[in-house]
Amino acid sequence: MEDRDVKLIEKILSLKKARNAVILAHNYQLGEVQDIADFVGDSLELSQNAAKTDAEVIVFCGVHFMAETASILCPDKTVLLPDIHAGCPMADMITAERLKEKKKKLPGVTVVCYINSSAEVKAEADVCCTSANAVKVIESLDADEILFVPDQYLGHYISTKTNKKLILWSGFCPTHVRIRSDDIKRLKLEYPHAQVMVHPECRPEVIALANEVLSTGGMVRFARQTETKAIIVGTEVGIIHRLRKENPDKKFISASEQAVCPNMKLITLEKMLWSLEEMAPEVRVPEEIHIRARAAVNRMLKMGGGSSPSAKEQEKCQSMRERQDARGSNENHLSLSG
Ligand code: 13P
Ligand code: SF4
Repeated sequence: MEDRDVKLIEKILSLKKARNAVILAHNYQLGEVQDIADFVGDSLELSQNAAKTDAEVIVFCGVHFMAETASILCPDKTVLLPDIHAGCPMADMITAERLKEKKKKLPGVTVVCYINSSAEVKAEADVCCTSANAVKVIESLDADEILFVPDQYLGHYISTKTNKKLILWSGFCPTHVRIRSDDIKRLKLEYPHAQVMVHPECRPEVIALANEVLSTGGMVRFARQTETKAIIVGTEVGIIHRLRKENPDKKFISASEQAVCPNMKLITLEKMLWSLEEMAPEVRVPEEIHIRARAAVNRMLKMGGGSSPSAKEQEKCQSMRERQDARGSNENHLSLSG
């Protein structure tokens, strides 16, 4: 590691302590960002962690909807997204207005929204889900007909696992659609003993070739537990860092080097430091939206694993915010030595 990086990391860690902050990072983040995070995980694990942390500040190393979910679960904490432009193009493929129009055409329909969506869209949904609990959430619903938004491929995958009728939105992940069935077929010939694990955001023809269809957290667990020594990985390339680090005796082969999410790569060590120095950019969801969005997220946490913040935890968040406000804005410009 270069001297410059060592200094940068020292500064981030010391400021993290001074701010009483926690660093949460998604499995697709750059290796150096994952390495200094307090917790690395998938969307469900990150939201569970955000809901439970005692820290006053969450530095969210991921994309916008993930930081918003953290803010929805604990609106009185300060949630920082070190690059405010880190969005999710799939989440942008639906708006609350368009969803409202669709709901008018399907009166009374139950709406399940993938966590990769804006807070406004979540506010219009009955319940959320992630790739880790989507089938479980859908199966726990009383309704037989469900409008699933916005990922058509995750929706298609769920429909192969349930008897319920799913009406699908036409969104997709531009990163996962880059993984082609020919990539998997070629790699299976090259590594005949390898297992194939893919994310449910992949195209159906890619999913059809997989041994395992898993969230990124599920992939991390599968890689640890399996006896297989070689695994073809059909998801964003950033996860390979963690898989190799945790399983040095196993071989991980990326299904496609083109499966890069440019938004996930916007978070860097430099931006994390600036963010902690400036206490910005902050992601905060307006109250009228977060109350309705939180109902959908909490329903998911109850149905699909995980626990929503208790009244006591939410009270604790409230008093943290009051303490922070009392300290005033001067403290937002802590200077660093070294
Ligand atoms: P996971 O919840 O499986 O980590 O997926 C998040 C995501 O954005 C996949 O593209
Ligand atoms: Fe969104 Fe796809 Fe990036 Fe995940 S990998 S954040 S779904 S664009």
